[in-house]
Amino acid sequence: MNKAKRPAVIAGNWKMNMTPSQTTALINEMKPLVAGADCEVVLCVPYVDIPAAIEAAKGSNIKIGAENIHYKASGAYTGEISADMLKELGVEYVIIGHSERRQYFGETDQTVNLRSLAALNAGFKAIICVGETLEQRELGYTEALIKYQTKIALTNVTEEQLKNVIIAYEPVWAIGTGVTASDDQADEGNGFVRKAIAEMFGADVAETVTIQYGGSMNAKNCEGLLSKEHVDGGLIGGASLKAEDFSVIVKAASK
Ligand code: PGA
Repeated sequence: MNKAKRPAVIAGNWKMNMTPSQTTALINEMKPLVAGADCEVVLCVPYVDIPAAIEAAKGSNIKIGAENIHYKASGAYTGEISADMLKELGVEYVIIGHSERRQYFGETDQTVNLRSLAALNAGFKAIICVGETLEQRELGYTEALIKYQTKIALTNVTEEQLKNVIIAYEPVWAIGTGVTASDDQADEGNGFVRKAIAEMFGADVAETVTIQYGGSMNAKNCEGLLSKEHVDGGLIGGASLKAEDFSVIVKAASK
């Protein structure tokens, strides 16, 4: 982290977990534990949980996000959710391009770019995910892949809009596997993201962008990961479903 240059952001990604009533209970449990944090605290929740999450988080420092957004304003896109729908609910953040969306739902770098533009044009903060598979890493393509994904995602994004962009570097082999990137691997991957942003927007601008690490970050390993220069926060899956564990990560980012 380098808080003098950019904000630290800890975001939970609940994925397909928690009903609305469970959402209320978990946020009520988390609120006192994360109060007074010296970092942004975000929970990205399933669409149907958003109203309960917004209600439960009222008056606290927890911001609510969605897990995706469609790039069209409206129309025949069964099962998708538009920017206006999320706006009306009071959502502030949106995750885009999570590897599970890419892997299981056919999202491509191009649609990730379109979704990012839709989110940014609507005034959301976009958490855009990039990261290599184990095969790509073993073939030696990690840097090229991370830079490629970052640059396509940010195509046609303006410097002004970049202020609302967070990139989450999430090596696919570390997501939900319990295998975490080492502190140095995370820092290196996040550094590749920053290099790609520097090549597009210049080095000074790149220094202002928050870059999270994601992939089995938990209460035990968060301190080491967050001590790295380029790791400005975390996108937390499994550990964001446990109030105590999530709050330990928030506290580590508050130091
Ligand atoms: P994990 O998920 O922390 O459970 O590995 C992270 C993510 O997919 O964002």
